[in-house]
Amino acid sequence: MIERLELHDLERCMDLAERVGWPRERAKWRLLLALGRGYATRADGRLTSMVVITPHDEGSFVAMMVVDPDHGGRGLGRRLLEHALETAPRPVMLYATAAGRPLYERLGFVPVDEVISLTGLLPGGPRPPRPHDADAIVAADARAFGIGRGGLLRALLAIADAVAATDDGFAIRFSNGAIDVIGPVVAASQEAAIDLVEQVGASGICRIDVPRSSHRVVEHLRSRGFIQRTRAPLMTFPTADLRGDRARYHAIALQAFG
Ligand SMILES: CC(C)(COP(=O)(O)OP(=O)(O)OC[C@H]1O[C@@H](n2cnc3c(N)ncnc32)[C@H](O)[C@@H]1OP(=O)(O)O)[C@@H](O)C(=O)NCCC(=O)NCCS
Repeated sequence: MIERLELHDLERCMDLAERVGWPRERAKWRLLLALGRGYATRADGRLTSMVVITPHDEGSFVAMMVVDPDHGGRGLGRRLLEHALETAPRPVMLYATAAGRPLYERLGFVPVDEVISLTGLLPGGPRPPRPHDADAIVAADARAFGIGRGGLLRALLAIADAVAATDDGFAIRFSNGAIDVIGPVVAASQEAAIDLVEQVGASGICRIDVPRSSHRVVEHLRSRGFIQRTRAPLMTFPTADLRGDRARYHAIALQAFG
């Protein structure tokens, strides 16, 4: 039976994520369970499958699609995702792992872009924070992402450890379990994006997921010693259109939210 995930399922969600080798990302799970609609199946008090759909102002993002390996390959993932998609606002978007891609392709998702995930250290930062305007940040994000997601941006600003902003761009850094995340980063140019990333800096290991078109941002991070971990396709359904002024979008928030 498919049930809804509740806030008190947070530890169980991280337990199932750990079963497939994913880290315990507490901050991300808090955001997901507060902003998204989670679905799951259970057995003996544990989750056997889960997925979370986060609606933005239009459209939605699919995240944390996991089936316990003991229950895999029997159609459970497909049934759960089909159920979740019935009420998911269109367009539906997601970042796919290699394991998940065949399932998404079966359901009609097509790849439209790709993100490069890098981790490293940014010694020297952060520079002293400047005052920022949350409304301007929400507006700059909507222009770049193409879909309003003020709920997510305000939640990220509330937990941010560092925020850097210009008139038409910004970068956010927040802690997600054992590592820091830098994202989203929105800027009129790749050079401006690099400056914003350097402004938020990072005190420990940090992760940043950069769309492949922002190659100068990737090169800069590599020159700072960052290591490329994975590449993940961005897939959409039912149309292959990607909205927004994507040339301004230099790092995503998290693969869970776009
Ligand atoms: C991806 C995952 C959720 C799939 O769950 P599952 O219950 O094993 O998948 P299903 O049995 O429902 O299979 C779904 C469809 O994908 C197909 N499929 C699954 N794996 C496949 C593979 N490696 N190659 C080709 N097709 C594959 C199945 O044949 C099935 O298609 P069908 O319904 O037309 O027969 C599960 O393997 C998992 O949790 N993986 C690790 C975590 C992960 O990477 N999640 C994706 C995050 S984006």
